[in-house]
Amino acid sequence: MNIAPRTGRLAYGMAALLMLFAAAPLFALDNDLARTPPMGWNSWNKFACNVSEELIKQAADAMVSSGMKDAGYQYVVIDDCWQVRRDESGNIVPDAKRFPSGIKAVADYIHDKGLKFGIYSDAGTGTCQNRPGSRGYEFQDARQYAAWGVDYLKYDWCNHSTQDSQASYSIMRDALKKSGRPIVFSLCEWGSTKPWLWAKDVGNLWRTTGDITDKWDTNRRDDGLGVVQILDLQNGIESYAGPGHWNDPDMLEVGNGGMNNTEYRAHFSMWCLMAAPLMAGNDLRSMSQDIHDILTNREVIAIDQDPMGRQGRRVKSAGGLDVWGKQLGDGGRAVALLNRTGAEASITVTWEDIGFPAHLKAKVHDLWAHKDLGEMTGSYAASVPSHGVVMVTIKP
Ligand code: GLA
Repeated sequence: MNIAPRTGRLAYGMAALLMLFAAAPLFALDNDLARTPPMGWNSWNKFACNVSEELIKQAADAMVSSGMKDAGYQYVVIDDCWQVRRDESGNIVPDAKRFPSGIKAVADYIHDKGLKFGIYSDAGTGTCQNRPGSRGYEFQDARQYAAWGVDYLKYDWCNHSTQDSQASYSIMRDALKKSGRPIVFSLCEWGSTKPWLWAKDVGNLWRTTGDITDKWDTNRRDDGLGVVQILDLQNGIESYAGPGHWNDPDMLEVGNGGMNNTEYRAHFSMWCLMAAPLMAGNDLRSMSQDIHDILTNREVIAIDQDPMGRQGRRVKSAGGLDVWGKQLGDGGRAVALLNRTGAEASITVTWEDIGFPAHLKAKVHDLWAHKDLGEMTGSYAASVPSHGVVMVTIKP
């Protein structure tokens, strides 16, 4: 009897088993945070380097008094420029002029309001504004953040030289874990090394693109991406998102002045349809009623926060008229009819577009009009303003 084929098969099987173990990550992100997309406010889009303890505390005050907190916003995040240097022991030193009471005092203030506190650093040697980065200081910084009471870390990718992204971000993941404090880990490498392919075991959210600008459509002519450019870049990566690990199409520009309210409503709706992290980026202290009503529309936020955590996707597109659908945990669908053209137009979603049989009778509810539109069979059509959305749920 020739046993060679059998031995060969055995060896092959063992090798396959070994490869399976080798492919599994040694460590995984198991912080159990961000089971729904994180919601909060971040200083960068509106204030850039103009941050101070006064501003951050006022943002926290406004988050509570405006009703944003009640609508689900939680994290108050200081972006770049809070830090100036390292001391002789390597400790990161905050800007004493802008944060005279120190970072812990800011964190305590935010916690006293029932909110959570976030901070920013960089995986390279310097941040994008050339403040000290965390390269080589990951464990020391994570320890410091935990001592201050940090609940959320946004971790950027400037000045990374020849560093490997997955390795660099994994060091900070391990450092945060070692710190003993639950800290949401937000990766910001701009989609440059396809983080959706590897970051599920590293961070709770990862940027998928370069920086957003406060424009509907930049045509890529200038620096930055408008809302429609960012939308197009989410195509095909939807299935990588889920509870605890989200694609991040960047923070909201709603209320910053570069778009009209129809466009801001569409921007917000589309981010919710994509189960995106919802980090407001406007001045919460002085927002108009319209902007407030956009950011706090609970029916639209509920689509973003749906516990099943499916990211929506574009299911149909023709001549600048898009249909986007998102599966919901209750078996229904959220649908956004998005008009990218310059004129009002009618857009139709058919039940087949969203995975329902044509004969199904379903209830349609308008999430901006807050209105039941009745039971329909087979399709729903609406007139949609230029650069606007009509957003509905369709439930059997
Ligand atoms: C990068 C990030 C932005 C912001 C700035 C700060 O550009 O992508 O979101 O954090 O750095 O310098």
